[in-house]
Amino acid sequence: MIRSLGVAASAAMLLCVSIQAQAASPAASPDRPWMNPAMSPDERARAALAAMTLDEKLRLIFGYSDQAYTDLAKVPDEIVSPELKAYVVSHQVQGSAGFVPGVPRLGIPDQTQTDASMGVRNSLIPSTALPSSLATAASFDAGVPRAGGQMIGAEARATRHNTMLAGGINLAREPRNGRNFEYAGEDPLLAGTMVGALIDGIQSNHIVSTMKHFAVNDQETERTSLDATISAEAMRESDLLAFEFALEKGKPGSVMCSYNLINGRWGCENDYLLNKVLKHDWGFKGFVMSDWGAVHSTADAANDGLDQFTGFCCATDKPWFAPPAIKAALANGAIPEARLDDMAERILWALFASGAVDDPVKPAPIDFAAHAQVAQDAAENSLVLVKNLGRLLPLTGVKSLAVIGGNADKGVLAGGGSSDVTPVGGAIMIKDHTYLPSPPLQALKEELPNARVTFDSGKDPRSAASLAARSQVAVVFVTQPDSEGYDGRLELEGNQDALVQAVAKANPRTIVVVESGGAVFMPWLARVPAVLEAFYPGIRGGPAIARILTGKVNPSGHLPISFPASRAQLAHPDLPGLGLPNETPVHITYDEGAAIGYKWYDAKGYKPLFAFGHGLSYTRFALSGLNAAAEGRTIHATFSIRNSGKREGKEVAQIYVAPADWKKARWEAPKRLGAFAKADLEPGQSKTVEVTVDPRLVATYEAAGNNWHIRAGQYRVMLGDSSDAPMQSVTVALPDQVWSASATGD
Ligand code: BGC
Repeated sequence: MIRSLGVAASAAMLLCVSIQAQAASPAASPDRPWMNPAMSPDERARAALAAMTLDEKLRLIFGYSDQAYTDLAKVPDEIVSPELKAYVVSHQVQGSAGFVPGVPRLGIPDQTQTDASMGVRNSLIPSTALPSSLATAASFDAGVPRAGGQMIGAEARATRHNTMLAGGINLAREPRNGRNFEYAGEDPLLAGTMVGALIDGIQSNHIVSTMKHFAVNDQETERTSLDATISAEAMRESDLLAFEFALEKGKPGSVMCSYNLINGRWGCENDYLLNKVLKHDWGFKGFVMSDWGAVHSTADAANDGLDQFTGFCCATDKPWFAPPAIKAALANGAIPEARLDDMAERILWALFASGAVDDPVKPAPIDFAAHAQVAQDAAENSLVLVKNLGRLLPLTGVKSLAVIGGNADKGVLAGGGSSDVTPVGGAIMIKDHTYLPSPPLQALKEELPNARVTFDSGKDPRSAASLAARSQVAVVFVTQPDSEGYDGRLELEGNQDALVQAVAKANPRTIVVVESGGAVFMPWLARVPAVLEAFYPGIRGGPAIARILTGKVNPSGHLPISFPASRAQLAHPDLPGLGLPNETPVHITYDEGAAIGYKWYDAKGYKPLFAFGHGLSYTRFALSGLNAAAEGRTIHATFSIRNSGKREGKEVAQIYVAPADWKKARWEAPKRLGAFAKADLEPGQSKTVEVTVDPRLVATYEAAGNNWHIRAGQYRVMLGDSSDAPMQSVTVALPDQVWSASATGD
């Protein structure tokens, strides 16, 4: 079924959205000094705040969900005034996630909020769907998410959205987390670099982006009632370090706090996370918005760091930050006035700093063809060839090809939930899962004009096997749906494992293409010579897959997550809360601490199915000449990468660091990713690369003094192209060094 859209669209057409434009930014004048772009965002925010009435401040801190359009009338007028209701309904962008009224009198724009990690999500407006964030992280190239972010921001502006609910960065601590596809993998450096670049790209369009979901929101099962116990040390060295890197690199105007509890306190009412870490230690000047409805109080939430209640969904949420509740808390002193000012000033700061005030969003045409190319480039840089025995790939001179399963005749799978973009061309709904209209079958036919390419749905493994037996090569597509709201499984759905086994038995030249949100088990791995991990590859997934399989594009993605070999290898084999009624209080202790993904496997001595950082190419690379030197707290490493094969290709070189004795050094694991670099090389070409290892990646966090601490000793600096590859190494000596984990040093 094709989901019907308010606006018909095709990839070729230019869309012009005829919705009410925000008022043009009024120029600076003596009575509106904050409109002067020459002033700093801090000065402008302070000046605008000083001109605001109490009611105007209150407008900024309370946001309405898309359902406000239909449901706001049911909210009593004492809670939301009739004027405000009328304003929300006439100014919000229909089909978006949320809306916060601006202050037109002062030139402060409305905040038109919508989801955007993988494309602008609006249920009524089509847009370009990028590959999943996890796929993009596999590029190991910050240029890829940055280009994606620039594209998202351009489409957001043109459809009148100025606040993007993007930048998902929770680490893949739990491989079954249903939202891992919205995040950037298991390593803080990789995730922080990729998500920081995405945010930077989005905000280059003079709009605000969030990073989310702060923090330790690492499973979907019972996400609104799960209490995660984790030490400050472990958080600072894993989940929070990813956020810290992304904040430094992307400078998001906003941070979205999470639904869950962390150490007994709600994410959106968490003094430690919001006040102490984010605002104090990291010096964050923007505002904390809640996840949709993730608020449980008025004064506690405000005092513990929440600046904006977002997504008030009139029927189900309590109006904790609605004007009457805040006014009452101000009146009885439960919220100091200075705190309300701080909340409003932070929101103003983000609007000024991003450029959203000076350059208001307005409807404009969108060049979908150019944007589809951004999505295709992202996919072509990200898909990971995990196995290729006997050089079965790339396919050359093939006369007959069986294409089997995965709805490959219709499209490619996308993730579900609030990130689910309404794709250009219309979504294809199959069993409630969204497929993007980019069928690999058609793309393979186009790339192999001289081959007989025949499709079998795979529903009956016998018929699929019989087609495979009659074909020179078989490609089996398997799909694993994942969505916000529930956790996935590592076992492939339905009969897909049996299908692969049957096809591989019928034809040993069988390739498997996996479209999945994250890791899956592959019980048939030993029987198939080639596997391409395509994740959710986006609106040009079909051509990207076909061009990689046929060798037009040399694969260069490397895994941003480990693939477990069995459930017994997981830090938590059983998901807490699975099968319980919604909102049952559930508890988990993350006693693995910061040992996430490859760190856990290394610490335990487990061999995963595929290791973090693994990825194959159609050419060969030689890494050599590793040198490393310490300068203060920082390690600089140089090495050279040579393309020693016969065709152009991109290598992902990875630097890992390891103390002489990781347990003695109080590390969570034997080694950590310290740096990475991607190089595009012609055959025979080599390049010298210099990278820097951030001192926090060599240190441990000490909660007592709020310090980072590098322990004196010898550290191995290792170079390889996967976390389990044989590595060259050199040793550097580091002296004992301790420094404050707070930006202000106090
Ligand atoms: C999700 C957020 C999203 C929000 C608005 C929530 O359910 O957790 O990631 O931004 O909805 O759509």
